[in-house]
Amino acid sequence: MCGIVGYIGSRKASDIVIKGLQRLEYRGYDSAGISVFLEDKLKNFKKQGKVKDLQEHIKQISLDSTVAIGHTRWATHGPPSDSNAHPHFSGNQRLSIIHNGIIENYAAIKKDLAEKGHIFQSETDTEVLIHFIEDIQENLACPLEEAVRQALNQIIGAYAIVIMDQDNPDRVIAARKGSPLVVGIGESEYFLASDATPIIEYTNEVVYLNDMEMALITREQMIIKKIENNETQEPYIQKLEMELEAIEKGGFDHFMLKEIYEQNRSIYDCMRGRLDALSGKLTLGGIRNYQDNLVNAERIIIVACGTSWHAGLVAEYMFEEFARIPVEVEYASEFRYRNPVIKEGDVVIAISQSGETADTLAAMELAKSKGAIVLGVCNVVGSSIARVSHEGVYTHAGPEIGVASTKAFTAQLTVLGMIALKTAKHRGTISDVRYREMLVEMEQIPAKVKKCFELNEQIETISELFKDSRNFLYLGRGFNFPVALEGALKLKEISYIHAEGYPAAEMKHGPIALIDEEMPVVFIATRDSSYDKVVSNIQEVKARKGRVIAVVSKGDALIPKMADFVIEVPDTNEAFMPLVAVVPLQLLSYHIAVMRGCNVDQPRNLAKSVTVE
Ligand code: G6P
Repeated sequence: MCGIVGYIGSRKASDIVIKGLQRLEYRGYDSAGISVFLEDKLKNFKKQGKVKDLQEHIKQISLDSTVAIGHTRWATHGPPSDSNAHPHFSGNQRLSIIHNGIIENYAAIKKDLAEKGHIFQSETDTEVLIHFIEDIQENLACPLEEAVRQALNQIIGAYAIVIMDQDNPDRVIAARKGSPLVVGIGESEYFLASDATPIIEYTNEVVYLNDMEMALITREQMIIKKIENNETQEPYIQKLEMELEAIEKGGFDHFMLKEIYEQNRSIYDCMRGRLDALSGKLTLGGIRNYQDNLVNAERIIIVACGTSWHAGLVAEYMFEEFARIPVEVEYASEFRYRNPVIKEGDVVIAISQSGETADTLAAMELAKSKGAIVLGVCNVVGSSIARVSHEGVYTHAGPEIGVASTKAFTAQLTVLGMIALKTAKHRGTISDVRYREMLVEMEQIPAKVKKCFELNEQIETISELFKDSRNFLYLGRGFNFPVALEGALKLKEISYIHAEGYPAAEMKHGPIALIDEEMPVVFIATRDSSYDKVVSNIQEVKARKGRVIAVVSKGDALIPKMADFVIEVPDTNEAFMPLVAVVPLQLLSYHIAVMRGCNVDQPRNLAKSVTVE
């Protein structure tokens, strides 16, 4: 969380930084700030609110600095305010810093510094870090880069930082541990950012800093050093393949809607070159070397957070159904702290859109340290999770910018479905005929997802009727149970309506007490092995006057007789139904949120990339 951007070159740096911050706003948006040189003096401009508030704040000031750093914040230490916004100055105002991450031992350092007379303007851990650097530089009378290095070797926590220096205006210093930092290389100019989206407009040559590396960057060169021992590192320059249009709204009102509508394409892209139903081939080159570990695994542990955790639940059902391998799905945040039993040979699959979720990363490190094979299912190429895994499969959904995850979820299901089927084939737990049928069915999914877009108008009408509800219940069974969880999560994230997802049969052990004529109950009731049971659950809700919105398979004749509203989706195999059935639920939450006047792409308190635990 928090987005950072920096620039050094010959262009107007503030324009590049502000535009970059707008691209990174998904990482946090409670306050923003920028450092520039103004009449040769290092100056900070900071504002609580969105990047556009900062833009407004500085619009009268003529900023022609060719070096700048900027930050968009998701508050951890200290509430959103002008003073807690980054950048932060050192005590003598000669250094300025932006930071994404958390300094865990900041309190002890702050206490020491305060005793030495340091006065702090904010409640942040970041301001402590820059004072600490200043203090070391003064005490050791050493160059800034050495003071930065010494400070970073003493702090505990995660960081991606960029520092500007009044005494050396033609250089910035950057460093990372745990939080991401990408450096774009231009002609006598460098761009720095938390991800590549602020950079791709200017260059496609980038270097992803590794953990515990720092970069000394002037207009003409970048020197990378190890923080631990000051050893110079050879930068590994990569070519970005991202297109600019992939990170723009392309005529849609919101990124979320655009991303919902991209799903037929993104699912197709995810299968492209991997799935060939005609020849019965599934090629997953990313996990080639660990294929046997997967096939022979006694169990699989899936770790993830949020929507990715829901994808993990669907994967559990897929692996157990096809490959007959027991699967445990764990919240990464719980797994990492509860001394889990991990045996040599266990396969851990980490699922993450951003590839930067701190808890998922830590869970992977833990599993690795205990001898497990760790595979990643990740969207962001080059991200930390992709790099920490032994091997992995990218979801290739393209940049997802709306904070509520949509196309990343369906792409994750696609990848996990392919891994499960391939593993099953190698284990001999699926017949050839069924395997081929499943591949053929999988190839049809993009077209079926596209068909769901025709439901948009009907869902808008339903949204209008339910937009003022105070609670929602989402129920499903089997493969559709995780879809119920995901539907509820989407609604609460962006419309702030309380929503719960439950296994339909569990309803009678609690949530049924909530049902009355005010309670909308969304059933995912497609034609599958638990269809008859779900029909009974619908009856139970109707008997208590609940208002039923049912997502059903096309042509269902029974449920329309009992539900208040039915949303018909194309039928498919039950294992793939989550890919189809989730689409109307995404649209429902989207329309309700828009009708309630909520900020769909940047819901309050949330961030897309949760780089703190
Ligand atoms: C945040 C996002 C969710 C996402 C979750 C896990 O909470 O708002 O949309 O599902 O993090 O993120 P990851 O990037 O690891 O999938």
